[in-house]
Amino acid sequence: MRRPITILSFVLLPILILLGLYFYPIYPTAESSIKGPTQPILFSHKIHAGDNQIACQYCHSYVAISPWAGIPSVQKCMGCHSQVAGRDVEYQYDGKKINIKKEIQKVKEYWDKKTPIPWVKVHFLPQHAHFTHKRHILRGFECKTCHGAVEEMDVVQKVNRLEMGWCVGCHTKNAKDEEELTRLKDCLTCHY
Ligand code: HEC
Ligand code: HEC
Ligand code: HEC
Ligand code: HEC
Ligand code: HEC
Repeated sequence: MRRPITILSFVLLPILILLGLYFYPIYPTAESSIKGPTQPILFSHKIHAGDNQIACQYCHSYVAISPWAGIPSVQKCMGCHSQVAGRDVEYQYDGKKINIKKEIQKVKEYWDKKTPIPWVKVHFLPQHAHFTHKRHILRGFECKTCHGAVEEMDVVQKVNRLEMGWCVGCHTKNAKDEEELTRLKDCLTCHY
């Protein structure tokens, strides 16, 4: 009767541990987050929203009035960068050395060519699921509740995996009464 236990501890257990270590990196936890993509301009939220304290809603202007937060136009960037040429200094951006002034010159190149900057999306849901910023912002949720401390990030990265369980979990926790709970858990609230 002791044999199965011996086999389990000496043979199976090490195999399970090795398998666990092997597959671990495929399943990052919310804390270890998901690394953001490389953008056409190495724009730093830390420099803009952190060091220079530019308000999130100055750039993401639609967040409280529409489903979408919106990404600022080149024109909005030039509102500052036609004056702010930037310091001729090196900056350590996510392990890469960049020159602040040269990186800002790239913004002006897009402006001169009259082409939008092809930013790569970081957050998105599958087509069948719908989210709206407006309702969440009006309810008083801060950006960092869902996006983490973006003002400390050079590269924006997902800190939450935007899975259905995350949405429904928060809806269940925050519903103010039974009636709202029913609505916030209704499939058709998010799938239509
Ligand atoms: C409200 C003013 C303001 C706006 C709007 C603004 N910037 Fe900046 N930006 C700054 C300041 C200030 C710096 C820091 C310059 C320095 O340190 O010398 C900066 C630095 C930069 C840098 C160099 C540091 C880095 O982030 O890599 C880039 C690139 C840049 N901005 C791009 C942009 C882009 C693209 C937009 C539009 C999406 C934009 N900026 C909008 C004020 C602004
Ligand atoms: C100076 C303008 C500016 C300010 C201020 C700013 N952002 Fe952004 N934000 C951008 C630009 C440009 C992008 C697209 C490039 C990128 O992803 O870095 C972006 C991207 C993002 C994204 C990812 C979008 C996606 O594709 O999923 C999030 C989330 C975000 N910002 C949140 C914030 C929050 C929160 C703040 C305030 C703490 C903030 N931003 C302040 C310009 C700005
Ligand atoms: C309740 C959670 C939540 C809050 C609070 C929240 N966001 Fe988002 N954000 C999301 C989700 C989910 C997405 C992906 C939406 C999609 O793809 O339909 C997203 C996408 C974005 C995007 C990229 C797409 C877009 O909408 O333009 C930006 C930029 C953004 N958020 C900025 C902000 C800013 C700035 C704030 C605070 C003023 C904020 N968010 C508050 C959950 C949130
Ligand atoms: C931080 C908590 C939180 C998270 C995370 C969250 N929600 Fe919500 N959501 C709420 C609350 C609370 C409301 C009710 C807002 C109101 O109407 O005052 C709401 C409202 C909504 C509404 C409007 C409901 C209606 O009555 O029409 C939609 C749609 C929605 N959420 C979708 C989502 C989706 C999709 C996600 C995940 C990608 C998500 N939410 C994540 C808290 C959250
Ligand atoms: C609060 C918003 C919300 C509600 C309520 C909700 N869902 Fe979802 N659902 C999502 C989001 C966001 C996704 C996409 C992310 C994911 O796949 O986890 C999703 C994904 C799904 C998927 C695809 C899963 C997959 O693996 O691709 C199915 C099926 C689904 N939902 C069914 C339902 C049903 C049935 C209900 C009602 C009992 C429901 N959902 C209620 C937000 C919601």
